[in-house]
Amino acid sequence: MEHRTNRRRFLGWSLGLTAGALAGGSSWSRAFAASCGLTPPQAEGPFYPGATKFLPENDLTLVAGAPRSALGEVVFLKGTVMDSQCKPLADANVEIWQACASGRYNHSRDPNPAPIDPYFKYWGEAFTNERGEYDFKTIIPGAYPAASGWTRPPHIHFRVAKLGYQELITQMYFAGEKLNAEDRILRSLSPADRAKVTVEFKGQNEFSGETIRVGRFDITMMPVPG
Ligand SMILES: [Fe+2]
Repeated sequence: MEHRTNRRRFLGWSLGLTAGALAGGSSWSRAFAASCGLTPPQAEGPFYPGATKFLPENDLTLVAGAPRSALGEVVFLKGTVMDSQCKPLADANVEIWQACASGRYNHSRDPNPAPIDPYFKYWGEAFTNERGEYDFKTIIPGAYPAASGWTRPPHIHFRVAKLGYQELITQMYFAGEKLNAEDRILRSLSPADRAKVTVEFKGQNEFSGETIRVGRFDITMMPVPG
């Protein structure tokens, strides 16, 4: 009987916990539910744009006064910046930089002979809103040679800054790209971290009168210790 009683107690506790978890009612369940894995940092690379930045805008596809928009497939990139408890962080500074459709950076140190696209912005900046959200309109960058036997897959570099949090420098990849599997930087991450920085672009979204694929890259920052 004692055994049964204990078992009932255990089941009751277990069921209560499940109900609490569903309702978000217990502090234990909230603690476990509200845990957002940190976004892994990755190498900054040599092509941060420095003096070649355009205006701080979140549309990289259109240069003012240009006769055409940027080459390449236009995509809409959005996400939420959060802390490790999944709390959205407002007013976080999100910078991105990337190659154009040919795989060339607008940087004097880029040895890639591929042509520059003068009508692509290469760099963009956004600040998260009160819900921690940011967005960019950009293009899928080209792959480029990094070293002998190593071609970097299409990727977008990120720098995210917010007072009270450690600056995050990382890179985002496009799901389905064959070169992802061989990339030395992406492969240096654990499978779980690779999944965090690999984004699927799908569906269609009306944005500024165009129909484009959309990807979501959520970012989790680490507080400054102390
Ligand atoms: Fe790069």
